[in-house]
Amino acid sequence: MAPDIETVAKNSESLEKDTSDSTRLMLNDNFKEMFMKFEDGSSYPEYLPYYANTDKWPQLELFDHVDPASRADKSKSNLLKNAETQDLTPYIGTVVEGVQISQLSKEGLDELALFTAERKLLLFRDQDFKDIGPKRQVEIGRHYGSLHTHPTAAHVKGHTELAVVYRDAKHNPYKDLYTASNRLTKLSWHSDVSYERQPPSTTFFWSLDQPDVGGDTLYVSMVEAYNRLSPEFQEVLQGLRAVHSGVRQAEHMRNQGAPVRREPPETEHPVVRVHPVTGEKSLYINQGFTRRIVGFKDEESDTLLKFLYDHIAKGADFQVRATYKPGTVIVWDNRLVCHSAVSDFDPNLRRHAIRLTPQGEAPIPAIVFSKSKM
Ligand SMILES: [Fe+2]
Repeated sequence: MAPDIETVAKNSESLEKDTSDSTRLMLNDNFKEMFMKFEDGSSYPEYLPYYANTDKWPQLELFDHVDPASRADKSKSNLLKNAETQDLTPYIGTVVEGVQISQLSKEGLDELALFTAERKLLLFRDQDFKDIGPKRQVEIGRHYGSLHTHPTAAHVKGHTELAVVYRDAKHNPYKDLYTASNRLTKLSWHSDVSYERQPPSTTFFWSLDQPDVGGDTLYVSMVEAYNRLSPEFQEVLQGLRAVHSGVRQAEHMRNQGAPVRREPPETEHPVVRVHPVTGEKSLYINQGFTRRIVGFKDEESDTLLKFLYDHIAKGADFQVRATYKPGTVIVWDNRLVCHSAVSDFDPNLRRHAIRLTPQGEAPIPAIVFSKSKM
């Protein structure tokens, strides 16, 4: 199948027409030019990044979240009846073989949520998930909660719930972020869109095109990161809240000429949250989006957050490295892990993946805050 250049051209034409409507946004010339330069050879052109939906979107509505893991049979007899599992590390990550996610019953999907919460990350090989089509992929995602639509990222044409992660030689919206950086490493630990009032829960990620070597993802258990701390320090953290912000991400994309379809919120979340089903406590701060500790002076906040970010980054004994092969699907619980892309591969190669991001509950604090702290 030929690359989707024609569609891209049509999209650009429709953008020109959209200028008459002041409620719509325009991609600027630089971004439009980058948008036109997808190389031939994409295995899944229908999943190429699509930026042309430039409508302004309303803020996300709050909703009652019932976690599917709460309905799950603890023995996981539906999910694992024909499966073999192998833990990758003691604290995080399990490879599951003998299961097709696309074939799971509702009960099996419930058990997948519970198993993911228990192991933090599951890695499925040889899945047909990437070939079942956007409609069915979205349907499976909706089993886990209201699907997040990203305020700035590209999505699959016609499916705003499918966020596209894409990079090739000519298309890299984050290139300036890296080339302008004077950092020693491109690692960037975060929990996806934690600035939302109801941040993501059981999250799916599957690869469409991947370099033979490199482009892995690192994950860290924020449960074990919390458990390693002294009881005295844990108690201090449990009493704190932090501000998470998507403003920097939105500003970066706006500077690239990309549409910011929904203004990202700044949200206070507890620094220690409790999983609604397993009851495990996890640290809930991340370098990508957490900006400050509520009520602390700047130096106090910066010092505490720097300590916690270092603790997470150095925790190789509670991290796992996920690798991709054709057909790999990774499922993780965004409430319990942080992750970082490993951007170590040749910039001339293509990496193309899709993320399906169900939202969970508003984070449950480990202790009940007094009204003055809320
Ligand atoms: Fe991410």
